Parts: sequence; C-alpha cells; structure tokens
Amino acid sequence: MDVAVFDTKVYDREHLLGAIHDDRLHWRFHDFRLSLETAQAAQRCEAICIFVNDRCDREVLDRLRHQGVRIIALRCAGFNNVDLNAAKDFGIAVVRVPAYSPHAVAEHTVGLLLAVNRKLHRAYNRVREQNFALHGLVGFDIAGKTVGIVGTGRIGKVTAQILRGFDAKVIAFDEYPDRDWAERSGVEYVDKDSLFRQSDILSLHVPLTDTTYHLLDATSLGWTKPGVTIVNTSRGKLIDTSALIQFLKSGHIGSVALDVYEEEEGVFFEDLSGKILQDDELALLLTFPNVLMTAHQAFLTREALSEIARVTSENLLAFGNKIAFLPGTQLV
Ligand code: NAI
Repeated sequence: MDVAVFDTKVYDREHLLGAIHDDRLHWRFHDFRLSLETAQAAQRCEAICIFVNDRCDREVLDRLRHQGVRIIALRCAGFNNVDLNAAKDFGIAVVRVPAYSPHAVAEHTVGLLLAVNRKLHRAYNRVREQNFALHGLVGFDIAGKTVGIVGTGRIGKVTAQILRGFDAKVIAFDEYPDRDWAERSGVEYVDKDSLFRQSDILSLHVPLTDTTYHLLDATSLGWTKPGVTIVNTSRGKLIDTSALIQFLKSGHIGSVALDVYEEEEGVFFEDLSGKILQDDELALLLTFPNVLMTAHQAFLTREALSEIARVTSENLLAFGNKIAFLPGTQLV
C-alpha cells in the first residue's frame, strides 16, 4: 500500500520507518502540509497519513478520492481538521490514534503550569545574562489552590491526578462525568460556570467541536477569578485569542501557558526564525511576560512517537487486509 505522508519531520520519518517492518507499507514522505494545492502528491496512493494542521475538508477529500485515496490515517488523536461527513459521503475511511500517551500531554501541561507560575522562562534568560536578581519572579504555591479541569478524558484525568499529587483541590467539568474515577481520585465534578468562577488555575482538555469552539471567550473569561492562570494544551480554537489579549491587557489574567494557538496552522512546527511574523496577535502574545508558549509539542516524547507510529502502521495494515476481501479491490 502506497501511503503519502504529509507534514513530516525527521522524527516522524524515523518512527514510522522503525515501527513495523512490513513490506506491504510503502511510505512516501512529504514535508509540506496537505491542502488543495498539494493533494496531487497523493497521486497513485491508496492511503494518506496526516497530522493536526493538514487541511482535509470536503474539497480536498473530493480531489483525493478522484486520485484513488481510500483511507486517511491521522497520526494524532484530534480529528477536527477532517470533514468526517464528506469522508463518509465519498467512502473514504478515516482512522486515528485515539490514545498514545496521555502522560506525555499531561506532563507537559503541568510543566508549562510550573514554568509560567514560577517564571522559569524569565529566570532562565536572566541567569544566562548574569542577572541574579529575583524581583518580578514571585510565584504561588499550587498546594491548596483550586484547579479546574475542563474535560476528564484520558489527558484531563492524568493531569488531574498529577495535580492532586501537588495537594491542589481539583474540580472538573465534563459532559460525560466519570464519577467512579472522580471519587477514587479525590476530584469533584461541578458545572461549567462554577468551574470558571472557582478555579485559580484552569486547564483545558476537551476536543475542538462546535460546542467547545471559543469555550473561553469574553463572556466566560469575565467569570474567571482575577489572577487566574490558564493552561491550554488541547486545541487553539478553544480560546478566543482577541478576548484573551484584552483580559491580559486589563491585568485580569495572572498568566497563560499555551501549547496550542488559534492560528497555529502554517506557523507552528516551522522554523520561522529570521522571518517577519505576519500574525499580529501572536506577535503581541509573545511580548507578554506572563505568557509562555510552546509550539504544539506536548505529544513529543519518545514513547508517544513510537506508539503513534505503531498504531498508525497497524491501522493501515488492518484496513489493507479488509479491502483485500472486498470484491473488486486488490491489496497492493
Ligand atoms: P478524550 O476523548 O479521552 O477526552 C475528551 C473529554 O472531553 C471526554 O471526557 C469528553 O466527554 C469531554 N468533552 C467533549 N466535549 C465536551 C464538552 N463540550 N464539554 C465538556 N466535556 C466535553 O481526549 P484526550 O485524549 O484526553 O485528548 C483531549 C484533547 O487533547 C484532544 O482532543 C486534542 O485536541 C488534545 N491533544 C493535544 C496534544 C498536544 O500535543 N498538544 C496531543 C494529544 C491531544
């Protein structure tokens, strides 16, 4: 099976090549992202493999099916960038890696929280400049604070458990609460409004859907506690960036740590050093001393990459086996 793999970096190639040694899989690596303009690169491929910022809307899917693509393998958990209805209409199967290492993302979430709270990003630069002064670096104890977890799926649960280990009070909101887990873990479910109003620290772990788009906007940010710390390692579009900037400028928000950004597509995962940044809101966010950003790297551990590559390969092979038995199809 020929697989066009879009938006690949060195670490993707290494892990996919090393995952499963099966000569039925022929990887065709491309470093550019999938779009209407680049879909041509999947010519003669039965499968494509994509990541979080590849564009897979109805128009792109229509082009892909005319080129013979039968399956899309997402090498990530989130699938908000794929028009699933269009894929269904066109008979294209979509598979993903629902869980690879919730610990990778949860640990990065807590790492960001600790760094932004204790101002490690600023302290690191100061010490390198032989500025050993401590003014402006005061943080707070996480112990005893109220942490609000939005979304207690795989990643939200691990994050909550780690923060319980810090002796924080953890409250949570999920449209499908897992009450047994909450009881075992010492976590209390509350409604969404109460969570926004009570939390000293807010951490987002819901997928991006129509209902979670701009979950934090001018209205809900208005409910948050003055001095709140906000961490988002889920999807950028959960937060209305313009509103976030207004609440940062007013001094309402204590600090923000982001691994994802509303308009990250085309920016994150690229080396743009030496180039002029065209996104004014991103440029502004990067100037705030109380904002810490990483470029969608929460998943980036050896364990997670190996698991993503293994499951992606197995997904493709399983599909290949299945279509071998369908009339009129032939496994390459
Ligand atoms: P999951 O599917 O295990 O959990 C999501 C939880 O959100 C579920 O419990 C679900 O009931 C809840 N939920 C969904 N819609 C909701 C709503 N409208 N209101 C309240 N709760 C809602 O997903 P998992 O594995 O925990 O991942 C969460 C998100 O993390 C992914 O969707 C993805 O966007 C993001 N992610 C980010 C990564 C990174 O590198 N920064 C890597 C992997 C995932």
